[in-house]
Amino acid sequence: MSKLWGGRFTKPTNKLVEEETASIGFDQKLAAQDIKGSIAHVSMLAGQGIVSQDEKEKIVNGLIKVGEKLEAGKLHYSTADEDIHMNIEKFLIEEIGPVGGKLHTGRSRNDQVATDMHLYLKEHTEAIIELISKTQKAVFKQAEKHVETLLPGYTHLQRAQPVSFAHHLLAYFWMLQRDKERFEDGLKRTNISPLGAGALAGTTFPIDRHESAHSLGFDQVYANSMDAVSDRDFILEFMSAASIMMMHISRLSEELVIWSSQEFQFIELDDSFCTGSSIMPQKKNPDVPELLRAKTGRVFGNLFGLLTVLKGLPLAYNKDMQEDKEGMFDTVETLEAGLAMLAPMIETMEVKTENMKQAVSEDFSNATDIADYLVNKDVPFREAHEVIGKIVLYSINKKKFLLDLTIDEYKQFHSLFEEDIYHVLEPSQVVRNRNSYGGTGQEQVVSQLKEAESALLK
Ligand code: ARG
Repeated sequence: MSKLWGGRFTKPTNKLVEEETASIGFDQKLAAQDIKGSIAHVSMLAGQGIVSQDEKEKIVNGLIKVGEKLEAGKLHYSTADEDIHMNIEKFLIEEIGPVGGKLHTGRSRNDQVATDMHLYLKEHTEAIIELISKTQKAVFKQAEKHVETLLPGYTHLQRAQPVSFAHHLLAYFWMLQRDKERFEDGLKRTNISPLGAGALAGTTFPIDRHESAHSLGFDQVYANSMDAVSDRDFILEFMSAASIMMMHISRLSEELVIWSSQEFQFIELDDSFCTGSSIMPQKKNPDVPELLRAKTGRVFGNLFGLLTVLKGLPLAYNKDMQEDKEGMFDTVETLEAGLAMLAPMIETMEVKTENMKQAVSEDFSNATDIADYLVNKDVPFREAHEVIGKIVLYSINKKKFLLDLTIDEYKQFHSLFEEDIYHVLEPSQVVRNRNSYGGTGQEQVVSQLKEAESALLK
């Protein structure tokens, strides 16, 4: 079969080269965008009198037909036609005859592929933003139920101070909020049309780039044709936002894995989100959060892969850029599949409030509060810290917790201790007292939930 660009050649392409340089194996995912872009392009050509109305109608109808046949699995892509753009053009010509050859007037595959990528990423970024909102809602719903549920808060994975479980969950809500904002911001630079930039320098035809951009729903047009065909920043930005988000999801996943271990038993994931072991009958493994934690690696890898592909390229288009696609598709698909599982997994997880409660009453995470107690009685914080350190050491040796010491024992360490120390040391009081803005005190958490709710409504 002859190539669409075959005129200048005297020999057929080496078979191995043909297979290795073809992108149809993966860029067929852009079929819908390619057809949409072509319809906008030919409609603009007709509007400018570059092709006739009749030719435009034939081409548009032909493209729609090709789209339908592709959907129905009636057409077969060929490696000889290299990529999605030439495959579709070939199908079009087969469908409507030589007039189909007018479609490519005033455009190049370089602006065409860039247009397809912008369209694809715009659609999928919007879908991912929706999925992030769903995940935030799942986090929010759990948080709403657990304002009064206390668990140890950790630093260095050592018990630090008790916190409200809602507070802990809402930290992830805000991470996801920033992720969403990053994707939204990236959309501004995805929503720009490269169409009509030609191979690199523009075209001799009197095209109207603003018109085709407008009909494709883009809100801007690249001001420089060389930039238009060689810019892949919008993909890098998407992949960067994706990497940061996956890092968050990975951290959350790690917590879910830890919390569902026998050692913690703070949560239990729903059976429908776990798998068993082929040898150990007792096992219920948290595969989903483990996989999400691992998928983060490929998303980071895709970002670095593309950064590396682009870093040494001279202007304008280079074949290297064909390597932008698989990583982008992979990142999109990983995010969409991952987020789709994450939301219902969070929603259905069982929170073991009793185990959390027990954990906070069997530790020294209220130690800071006795220090604050003395500070309130005008003892300098450093001195109080020293005194409490000694009390903790004493308690460890006596195998007691702070609430178990008698008032006489307290008084041995400092004369200012009174009976009210026991109230201050109650975990729920410890949490309640952290009533500074953004703190874990229940009153603050309730108003944080309100802020989260209004962020969701925006
Ligand atoms: N398949 C190519 C890609 O994905 C399309 C653009 C090809 N342009 C060219 N002049 N070879 O990048």
